[in-house]
Amino acid sequence: MENQWQTYFEQNRKIWNDRVETHLKSDFYDHTSFMAGKSSLTEIEANALGDVNGKTLLHLQCHFGQDSLSWARQGALVTGIDFSENAIETAKQINDELGLNARFLNSDVYQLPEVLSGKFDIVFSTFGAIPWLPDLEKWADVVSHFLKPGGIFYLAEFHPTFYLFNFENHKVEYGYFTEGKPYSEEISGTYADRYAGVQGLEHFWNHSLSEVMSPLLKNGLQVLDFQEFDFSPYNCFPNMVEREPGRFCWGNFGVRIPHIFSLKMQKRT
Ligand SMILES: C[S@@+](CC[C@H](N)C(=O)[O-])C[C@H]1O[C@@H](n2cnc3c(N)ncnc32)[C@H](O)[C@@H]1O
Repeated sequence: MENQWQTYFEQNRKIWNDRVETHLKSDFYDHTSFMAGKSSLTEIEANALGDVNGKTLLHLQCHFGQDSLSWARQGALVTGIDFSENAIETAKQINDELGLNARFLNSDVYQLPEVLSGKFDIVFSTFGAIPWLPDLEKWADVVSHFLKPGGIFYLAEFHPTFYLFNFENHKVEYGYFTEGKPYSEEISGTYADRYAGVQGLEHFWNHSLSEVMSPLLKNGLQVLDFQEFDFSPYNCFPNMVEREPGRFCWGNFGVRIPHIFSLKMQKRT
């Protein structure tokens, strides 16, 4: 791992470790309904992958595993990875409680090829994952490394244009082209509970769409589908309004702005 990233990652890992307990108890993650059988997947990714039964699926940055285990409930053979020890421990416990057979591994995305072997039918990553990664060239190498020829990579993420805004004061505060420079902010609370006692310095990177797509294309992945949406399936930013059930919009600009995008790609055979 690049030396200059170590401090960023250590501080980010601490915050993600601290978030797990709060998230587990939050209305946002609604863990009681999840345990009772409700899928945590949103309509976007749930409809995108089709029948996953019997397919091997690698979930990058799986947090405490709700989405990974939602795929496992549909018969996918899931491996979830995350660099937060607390998230992975919790995911393992939930997997055992539910009697599922997902595998969870504590690893940084960039170091994964050193600790995990095998190739997968699907590599999957969604919502709030890539902003924690400084270098998408290396990330795309990892994605490609773990895909079987003909395998599918699926990404759904917040749109880099959406991330330009300060969600509290509605001003454009962040760059679209950031040349790998992080934004470092002292945070308090978390998107699932703004008043939670989670505090510390976190570091994140906004990535332009070309920064996301170019290294994947260079790795021999072909675009099957690319979409942009004018809503978020999550109410996880300040000042959002539920336009329709499960579709949240931010701001009141009188024009439609991109909130999220999805990308489905296939590795050449
Ligand atoms: C917003 S959460 C992803 C949520 C995800 N959509 C889900 O399934 O719940 C971001 C996750 O990325 C993880 N993460 C951040 N940086 C990472 C890194 N360098 N390597 C691996 N995991 C990382 C965090 O620990 C956190 O669990």
